[in-house]
Amino acid sequence: MSDSLLTEIDHVAIAVRDLDAAIAWYAEVFGASVEHREVVESDGVEEALVRVADSYVQLLTPTRDDSPVAKFLEKQGEGLHHVAYRVVNCALALDAVKASGARVIDDTPRPGSRGTTVAFIHPRASFGTLIELVQVNS
Ligand code: CO
Repeated sequence: MSDSLLTEIDHVAIAVRDLDAAIAWYAEVFGASVEHREVVESDGVEEALVRVADSYVQLLTPTRDDSPVAKFLEKQGEGLHHVAYRVVNCALALDAVKASGARVIDDTPRPGSRGTTVAFIHPRASFGTLIELVQVNS
């Protein structure tokens, strides 16, 4: 066992243009169904979570033109948007990340979907992958 800050993969997020079409595709191809769907107004996104074992595939689509996901789709097209790792304590994990010198997007943790607490690490600091730290609050 290691003392990694990352306890599990919470979700892998995929940016899509048509959320219903993506949900239908996962159902048709994999027999997978949506467990949770939520509009996150502050981020300008709607997400659908498809459970895979103890993690999720998060299908993500913009709800407005100035959403970061809208910009992502414009620049890079559909595809992998970010990887989210579970941490026990988002604030402590973020402090450790900042202390290591890594560049972060969120200077302090903020509310995510499903009542989680989240923070994002800048992709330029992490080999091109946007990383989200997720604290699951029960
Ligand atoms: Co996410």
